[in-house]
Amino acid sequence: LFQSVEMAPRDPILGLNEQFNADANPQKVNLGVGVYYDDSGKLPLLQCVQQAEKQMMEAPKARGYLPIDGIAAYDQAVRNLVFGAESEPVKRGRVATVQALGGTGGLKIGADFLQKVNPKAKVLISDPSWENHRALFSQAGFTVETYPYYNAARRGIDFDGMLTALNMAPEGTIVVLHACCHNPTGYDITAEQWDKVIAATKAKKLVPFLDMAYQGFGAGITEDGAVIGKFVASGQDFFVATSFSKSFSLYGERVGALSVLCQDKDDAARVLSQLKIMIRTNYSNPPIHGASVVTSVLSTPELRAMWEKELGEMRLRIKQMRLALVEKLKDCGVKEDMSFITTQVGMFSYSGLSKDQMVRLRTEFGVYGTDTGRMCVAALNSKNIDYVCKSIAKVLQ
Ligand code: LMR
Repeated sequence: LFQSVEMAPRDPILGLNEQFNADANPQKVNLGVGVYYDDSGKLPLLQCVQQAEKQMMEAPKARGYLPIDGIAAYDQAVRNLVFGAESEPVKRGRVATVQALGGTGGLKIGADFLQKVNPKAKVLISDPSWENHRALFSQAGFTVETYPYYNAARRGIDFDGMLTALNMAPEGTIVVLHACCHNPTGYDITAEQWDKVIAATKAKKLVPFLDMAYQGFGAGITEDGAVIGKFVASGQDFFVATSFSKSFSLYGERVGALSVLCQDKDDAARVLSQLKIMIRTNYSNPPIHGASVVTSVLSTPELRAMWEKELGEMRLRIKQMRLALVEKLKDCGVKEDMSFITTQVGMFSYSGLSKDQMVRLRTEFGVYGTDTGRMCVAALNSKNIDYVCKSIAKVLQ
């Protein structure tokens, strides 16, 4: 039966973890996957999460099945966070939100649903985009193409190219947009550019699908989420995939959501009923623990304040690592101006290194980034940064 089954290539991001774990180099540094580590190189267990878990342990609950769309209070907390508790769409009940298995789960439920609604639609992702966007939408049955985004020569965004592509896209095209902290480049469009993108998706009747996996890692929770308000104001229906993997450091709990903004409450009820079919036929219903933690933190004022503080500290440390990276690369003799690293935001830096250079970094120095030149700045710390800079300097020589 399986003789003709081919060996699939390793996942371009998670596959690096396997290689990293097998590497015997004692100085190895994993800048591959998008995970935040603290300055001692440890994956943090946030205080707000520990507090919420402590309270949950004090009053342990039995674990029945959750409703198909997840914990109702969680879905409400997500809607409040993403759209605003006092926002018109939340008050009017026109947002269909389901708990999902991480941001990826939210994207997948949305993709499967869209495949039912409009199977012939094309999907446009940014060039480049998170590696899994293409795979996920292709797997859901769509033809996936790209819109221009990164301009290597300019070390920035090809905004004219992006806008032209959106204006030329056929009606119904699904456009995957990074709400903030673009993965992999770290370059975000400005508020004015968002206005133009939103005008284009509206005029051309495109379907915006926002991936918001890094809310709070750019300028702040509110600032990073501001684009949602802009889309709401435009009157369009759109999708938002939320992830709490990074912002709560709950990677392994798979806590995320999908929200679909609809024209009215009636649309939202019908959309929700269809999303529930996608969930039921894939994994029946979601798990309890991670979403309970997030619900408790988001809806308890003291824990919420603690979370905002801790997320702010993560954001600040990443910014400090960006500054240190630029300085230390210079100290190591890198002639090129690397200051672009500090204009990028979020967990990643698109370093501009070629695939060959990234492979050399990995094989000769045990410094792991993706083949595309993406490095996770959030995994740098005061102990490994010198080694990383020396290694980069050597491959740039
Ligand atoms: C990443 O881009 O490294 C993260 O989003 C983790 C993942 O699932 O790929």
